[in-house]
Amino acid sequence: MDGITQHNTYRNDTGTAVPTIRIFKGDILHTPTPDAFEVVEDGFIIVDNGTVRRITSALPSEYANLPVADCNGSLIIPGFNDLHIHAPQYPMAGLGFDYELLPWLERYTFPAEANFADPEITQRWYKRFLNKLWSVGTLRFSAFATLHAGSTLELMRLSQRSGLRPVIGKVNMDRNAPESLIESTDDSLAATQKLIEKSRELTPDIGFIITPRFVPSTTPELMQGLGALVERYDLPVQSHLDENFGEIDWVRELHPDIPSYAEVYEHYGLMPEGRTIMAHCVHTSERERALLKARHVYLAHCAQSNMNLTSGIMPVRRNLDYGLTISIASDVGAGHVPDINHHIVQSIEASKMLSMLPEHQGERPLLLPEAFYMATKAGGSFFGRVGSFEPGYDFDALVIREDDNPLGLSPQERLERYIYAGDDRSITHRFVAGREIPLPFPDIA
Ligand code: GUN
Ligand code: FE
Repeated sequence: MDGITQHNTYRNDTGTAVPTIRIFKGDILHTPTPDAFEVVEDGFIIVDNGTVRRITSALPSEYANLPVADCNGSLIIPGFNDLHIHAPQYPMAGLGFDYELLPWLERYTFPAEANFADPEITQRWYKRFLNKLWSVGTLRFSAFATLHAGSTLELMRLSQRSGLRPVIGKVNMDRNAPESLIESTDDSLAATQKLIEKSRELTPDIGFIITPRFVPSTTPELMQGLGALVERYDLPVQSHLDENFGEIDWVRELHPDIPSYAEVYEHYGLMPEGRTIMAHCVHTSERERALLKARHVYLAHCAQSNMNLTSGIMPVRRNLDYGLTISIASDVGAGHVPDINHHIVQSIEASKMLSMLPEHQGERPLLLPEAFYMATKAGGSFFGRVGSFEPGYDFDALVIREDDNPLGLSPQERLERYIYAGDDRSITHRFVAGREIPLPFPDIA
């Protein structure tokens, strides 16, 4: 591995390196709890078959003969997880932010997504998208594709080839969309079911996630049918919730008999416990918060998107104090870049902004280890034991090297500097469940 030095390469009787145990050496940082970084300077991570066995500051004698991958003073941190991203919106990320959500969807998003009926656009842009996520260190994510089943399957196949480990959903929408981006209820359900079965066969490492776009896009019959698929195939769900006042009013008009937006999803079986991601949750009511907590819903905090579309600011501190699970998400294309280090920063900035308002006075803004935890362990737990280096966790890791350290910064200070001012050029290696992942599609610019 370029940039990593192998020491003591151990060979067994047949002359091949022992495959199951790997040892990594470097400045290790992670957040087993949100309150502080755990830092092991010049330490060792012992990885067994892709899973972390332990972290130590000195190598125990039992491992003395094993190979050590020496990262030569680089930082080793958990990989980033993005719990809400729209793959087909990558080509239009950054456009149309003089509009709020509903006109932005009409003018920018829907026309952009309609392009993914085209196999050539699908190939080119989904490869670019996966290369980009790889480059910024997003190793696991939950993505919306489009309503096109063929194009969605292609994104799943390309993801399987890439070595990244997302869950992906075909978007369902059978009302309130333009002609080019609408399907009949029956077609939507049949195509979704077919895709669930096909992807289980063709893309075993890529999970399928049921993806009603949001309540205004899906009829009661479609939501009912998707709820039945959740139950039948034991699937997770992702959607949007309480992003914008116009959207919330619209849901109230469409479902006057259901007391809140969140309860519409619940009513139709679209809130499986511990397996649901709801993006935004900016304007949640008390009764919605109680439901989100009871169902252990993952709130995907999209601070950059919420600012771009003037949607609002999620009260993160109050939600955390209340006991909600919050992860960090890019929401590309309403977020303009996928880089999770930027979203960590923007989540902190949004929280600081709120804490300066009179009605939030005295509220502690989000701290860096808390935001890092949200982007690693909190989001990672959606995928299993992911996002930390505690024993039993998958070794999902980034090696981060910054060549200039003129002030003799500590490992934590170097991480802070990377999060605030660094970019993908500092990430030299990426591991998913112990396997190093190369650039997925070097053939594409
Ligand atoms: N609500 C429904 N669809 C979308 C989308 O594509 N992006 C955002 N930010 N909100 C949505
Ligand atoms: Fe979104």
